[in-house]
Amino acid sequence: MRPLYGIVLAAGRGTRMRNALPKVLHPLAGRPLIGHVLATVADLRPQAIRVVLGAGMNAVADRVREICPDAEIRIQDPPLGTGDALRVGIEGLEGSGTLFVVYGDTPLLRARTLRALCTAREESDSGVVVLAIRPQDRGGYGRLRTGEGGNLLEIVEERHADAALLETAACNSGVMALDLEMARELLPELPLHADKNEIFLTDLVAAARRHGRIVRALDGDAEEGVGVNSQLDLARVEAILQKRLRTRLLEQGVIMPAPETVFLAHDTEVEPGARLEPHLVFGPGVHIGREAVIRSFSHLEGVWVEAGAVIGPFARLRPGSRVGRGCRIGNFVETKNAELEPGAKANHLSYLGDVRIGRNANIGAGTITCNYDGFGKYRTEIGEGAFIGSNSALVAPVRVGAEAIVGAGSTITREVPDRSVAIARGEQRLRQEGAPLLRERLRRRRQKALRE
Ligand code: UD1
Ligand code: CA
Repeated sequence: MRPLYGIVLAAGRGTRMRNALPKVLHPLAGRPLIGHVLATVADLRPQAIRVVLGAGMNAVADRVREICPDAEIRIQDPPLGTGDALRVGIEGLEGSGTLFVVYGDTPLLRARTLRALCTAREESDSGVVVLAIRPQDRGGYGRLRTGEGGNLLEIVEERHADAALLETAACNSGVMALDLEMARELLPELPLHADKNEIFLTDLVAAARRHGRIVRALDGDAEEGVGVNSQLDLARVEAILQKRLRTRLLEQGVIMPAPETVFLAHDTEVEPGARLEPHLVFGPGVHIGREAVIRSFSHLEGVWVEAGAVIGPFARLRPGSRVGRGCRIGNFVETKNAELEPGAKANHLSYLGDVRIGRNANIGAGTITCNYDGFGKYRTEIGEGAFIGSNSALVAPVRVGAEAIVGAGSTITREVPDRSVAIARGEQRLRQEGAPLLRERLRRRRQKALRE
């Protein structure tokens, strides 16, 4: 194939989202819309990737640089429609070959579809190949007017389409493969639609035909072309993507009895034989090893869970957590930046932050690592085989040695050496038979108060 160039159009304001957050930064399966699009574009390994943004879209530009450092950002100011956006996008782009155009708000497009579109353009030396879709809900899409033999004649925006076209024609997904040289030549010729003050990229189809070029439509899966214009669209797209992700895990041999209740991220990795119980939420960056069990109502983000570990129910694992083989993390345990070596257990009600917990150590119910003093974060080290009694506070920085024992209810502020016992709590006082006397005293005091 001749050289490929990719362009992402994302300068639109996305006002229909009714939200201050830029449209393409809305999250979808744990990454922004534009992250999905950039991943697909990068998969084709184009010679150049351009992303067209509007003035002041600094937050979007930052995310684009972070996700795809190779992308070159172009600013369209003012935004005068998709045709104008592409003109801005290809400024200074030399050479010839296939230029593919995708929209920043169309995140379900698959790389293999985009590749097929580019190949189709190459092989037929077409001026334009458009990805055609037939979605259930056709509102908002341009319609493809085709002639004899299925050649594409023009794209008519919905507002300008007649009843016949609205009902029967396929829709424009917005995804196109173009002859770069032709695009360079014809884009400046496209008309400005005065009513909207916009230049439509879709008018490139009719222009290419006027110049005698072949223009075709390639049928695509409706799902892949769904554009996000509203919060409702975003929720629909999320549902489709979640289904794709769950199906992939099930096909790989993950046990998931209620897949529709498990919310995954785009990069969730689960090894075969692991079991995901109902009602789970995975943020980005999670890996679950073989035969691990993630029990209901747990929330995991940025964690690596080794084989055979059991997490939850009701566990919260935050970024930087690493749970070793056969570990147990029980209900209402929160971890953050916590490394648990194989066999370590924290079965109930704990906060474990900025900590390393040695092999087979046992963390009692209610243990808290006090890692933050309002200014800095400090680390706790717990040695192999250590036993931390219930309701202990470990005030970091602090170390509890291997095989050491901390008595229940202790507040540990200094090192506990290996194999030693630390008890740091108020001494218990005892008065034998003191309870009846105390009750009598309290009763009298109460009666006196009522008389006065
Ligand atoms: C567009 C198509 C329509 C197609 C639909 C598919 C046109 C005129 N219409 O309509 O045929 O069926 O997509 O989803 O192309 N953008 C810019 N600069 C601008 C305007 C838009 O970069 O000046 C970007 C937007 O950020 C967005 C994309 O282009 O990512 C599409 O713009 P949008 O306004 O959503 O177009 P639609 O009305 O959906
Ligand atoms: Ca759109």
